[in-house]
Amino acid sequence: MTEPLRIALAGLGTVGGGVIRVLDENGDLIARRAGRRIEIVAVSARDRFKDRGVDISRFDWIDDPAELARHPQADVVVELVGGSDGPALTLARSTLAAGKSFVTANKAMIAHHGLELAEAAEAAGVALKFEAAVAGGVPVIKGLREGAAANVIGRVYGILNGTCNFILSKMEAEGRDFADILGEAQRLGFAEADPSFDIDGVDAAHKLSILASLAFGAKPAFGDVAITGIRHVIAADIAEAAALGYRIRLLGVADANGHGMFQRVHPHLVPVSHPLAHVTGSTNAVVAEGNFVGRLLFQGAGAGDGPTASAVVADLIDIARGEFGPPYAMPAASLAAQPAADVGERRGRAYLRFTVPDRVGVLAEIAAAMRDSGVSIESLIQRGAHGDGSVLVAIVTHEGPERSVAHALEKLRGSQALAGEPMWMHILAD
Ligand SMILES: NC(=O)c1ccc[n+]([C@@H]2O[C@H](COP(=O)([O-])OP(=O)(O)OC[C@H]3O[C@@H](n4cnc5c(N)ncnc54)[C@H](OP(=O)(O)O)[C@@H]3O)[C@@H](O)[C@H]2O)c1
Repeated sequence: MTEPLRIALAGLGTVGGGVIRVLDENGDLIARRAGRRIEIVAVSARDRFKDRGVDISRFDWIDDPAELARHPQADVVVELVGGSDGPALTLARSTLAAGKSFVTANKAMIAHHGLELAEAAEAAGVALKFEAAVAGGVPVIKGLREGAAANVIGRVYGILNGTCNFILSKMEAEGRDFADILGEAQRLGFAEADPSFDIDGVDAAHKLSILASLAFGAKPAFGDVAITGIRHVIAADIAEAAALGYRIRLLGVADANGHGMFQRVHPHLVPVSHPLAHVTGSTNAVVAEGNFVGRLLFQGAGAGDGPTASAVVADLIDIARGEFGPPYAMPAASLAAQPAADVGERRGRAYLRFTVPDRVGVLAEIAAAMRDSGVSIESLIQRGAHGDGSVLVAIVTHEGPERSVAHALEKLRGSQALAGEPMWMHILAD
């Protein structure tokens, strides 16, 4: 066998520890598949003496992760520290500048700096790989970059955040409210102590922008992702959606035509007949629609030490085989700058929920705002008074321009007919 591929590993937490275990446990099989052994030679983290459940005394310990780029034995650096900037970005830049390949699970860094890093990797003739950055163990990047490479991808969308899906599917199963389930998810370790990146949709947006670039051959444009999280979804929305034949999922949705690229993370109503309606718990799932292959569904564990490490090591196996390939499936210079699509021009069906005072004339005012804005109502459900005397009105619209719905809600802003902020969710077009 040829020389081993030698790895310097920054970050020994959930994913870093997982990578060590995968290479320990499956090392022989991986060596047969890769054509050579993959060996860790050096590691770095904050605390040298923390018990990590794996023996790290066999590796060279380096205090400053940035130094790994210059480690004389290392061919490849694996970054599992996290953070869009800081030590992760310093390490990425210095590794590529040193002419070494770089593997990461860091979606925040790739969403913000992926293009710069891809250009640096291509200039140096080395690999930049980030399979684990989107949907953890699910090989969706490989799926798009390699398996679906012959297709024009019209749309890519999916459940990209396991914490949100865990919360929404538990709200659905138990009829409980968001805050209640979030607390439980934190106690069980399914949600971070500071869950805002997850529940406010930012984490899903990082992943969506990576998928959109790959799918559409477009320059990454994280700043163009319109983001709404799940904080304002209430148990009653889930019950009304169910009564209408839908389930609520936080989806990242992206499409592109010649005129622009659309990227949105938003809680959606998903028809129960759609496969994504049946993805529950912390599972991730991505759908890509290709003009020859049709609809592809990638599904599996979007996080966790084993699944995420599995994706990191898959990237290392590619590098061991000499399969570098451009990070975004085409040279960075070929990626097109796509303007953000005009959202108002988009057509779709909407779910609108209003909390209104229990008095005559309120429904008529809402209906008038819809009519005057050109929004056509397909169905309307009104539920009797809550303890506080308010009534819930849920509306599903016919397909129409989103601009009209925005206009209707603007007309109702500040109206005495509303007892709280309305909720607007998009309905996934099948
Ligand atoms: N966890 C998942 O399921 C998952 C899934 C997909 C992608 N990812 C991505 O994978 C990356 C790692 O996630 P993780 O969950 O493994 O994180 P983690 O458990 O918090 O581990 C982070 C590691 O980085 C080290 N570290 C942090 N700051 C450092 C610094 N300034 N200098 C040196 N080392 C530093 C920590 O050292 P100490 O251990 O000494 O504190 C720790 O070993 C992130 O980019 C994350 O988004 C994670």
